[in-house]
Amino acid sequence: MPSLLIKNIGMLATAYGVSAKGGSKQGEILTYQNAYIVADDDKIVSVGQGQIPDEFLCADKVIDAQGKLVTAGLVDAHTHLVFGGWRENELALKLHGVPYLDILAQGGGILSTVRSTRKASEDELFQKTANVLDTMLSLGTTTCEAKSGYGLNFENELKQLTVTKRLNESQPIDLVSTFMAAHAVPEEYKDNREGYISLIIDEMLPYVAQNKLAEFCDVFCETGVFSSEESKRILSAAQKYGLGAKIHADEIDPIGGSVLAGEIGAVSAEHLIVCPDDGIASMAKGGTIACLLPATSFYLGATFAPAKKMIEAGVPVAVASDFNPGSTPNLSLQLAMNIACYRYRMTPEEVLTAATLNAAAAIGRAEHIGSIEVGKQADLLIWNADNLNFIFYRYGNNLVNTVIKNGKIVKENR
Ligand code: NIG
Ligand code: FE
Repeated sequence: MPSLLIKNIGMLATAYGVSAKGGSKQGEILTYQNAYIVADDDKIVSVGQGQIPDEFLCADKVIDAQGKLVTAGLVDAHTHLVFGGWRENELALKLHGVPYLDILAQGGGILSTVRSTRKASEDELFQKTANVLDTMLSLGTTTCEAKSGYGLNFENELKQLTVTKRLNESQPIDLVSTFMAAHAVPEEYKDNREGYISLIIDEMLPYVAQNKLAEFCDVFCETGVFSSEESKRILSAAQKYGLGAKIHADEIDPIGGSVLAGEIGAVSAEHLIVCPDDGIASMAKGGTIACLLPATSFYLGATFAPAKKMIEAGVPVAVASDFNPGSTPNLSLQLAMNIACYRYRMTPEEVLTAATLNAAAAIGRAEHIGSIEVGKQADLLIWNADNLNFIFYRYGNNLVNTVIKNGKIVKENR
């Protein structure tokens, strides 16, 4: 007897497959009317439309979707989840036109969050982040990537990674951990950046890999942060330790990050606001996913990444929140999806793929999540909407009604 039947689904909309989709495939999704989904335990065992076969009617739990839209759970492939404090003081600076990189160069920005994160205890960080995740869950995020990078020394990077690990074990959202000690050069290494890079490569990376504290490594490749050459050294070392490579590239200045991403076969390159054509070509060649963060462009008042150009070049585009205390204090992936639609001019179908299947691929999970298909994890959302277009049109509200994780209801918003 199956454990779950969701019946009376007005529209089921889903990407399909087990790998990222670019080109015209990014906008090709499956839709079913008058549909049903059957799960047994944590897995989807049947998806169909019309008459429900008798064998499924006796499921332990039956949910009537009342004609609403159902999609796969949202996958947030880029967040800086665990941090101490906030940075609302930077809003005034921003309004006065002080550039993001100037705030960082003056010891603020990321470095101010490093000070707050170092000060916070592991339990304080745990509790604060548990509250954040609870909100994310109600907004429909069922899997979330989490970067370190506010510790910037052995003890505090480890503290962030440990909080992520504990949270992964204690609340419904699956967390995928990324090691990002190369988020900035800490103040104590200001005059010895080589020393900090060696600390990352020779001490932190081997420990993180050995203790399975992260699956990916990320570097902030940017003017005044890490050069393309330095990023290459750090990411190549990470790859030798079996970690997948990610790179914050072309966010503010195009200093070669996206070209490097393609060359080293990075799983994803992130931001790409000012990505040049040779960067797009390199990512297409290297099979790198473009993980775009439209809420960051919105909040920074920056331009928007050339998403359509990337899709046309065959680069799969993922869309994520970039939740962090500086450049995007927003944790709603729904809002990021809406902005992607309005400002990148991606279609609802392309954005759905971006925030589910392509996002899953960007964190190495596309075989298990990101679409509603037999064999995949039963991570599902019932929306307060009758069709896919509606959730892209009605921005600004939480339109998720019910969140199902691993075949169980974990949130009901009403
Ligand atoms: O992805 N750009 C680098 N890292 C974050 C911002 C971190 C911060 O400002 O605290 C980002 O935008
Ligand atoms: Fe980021």
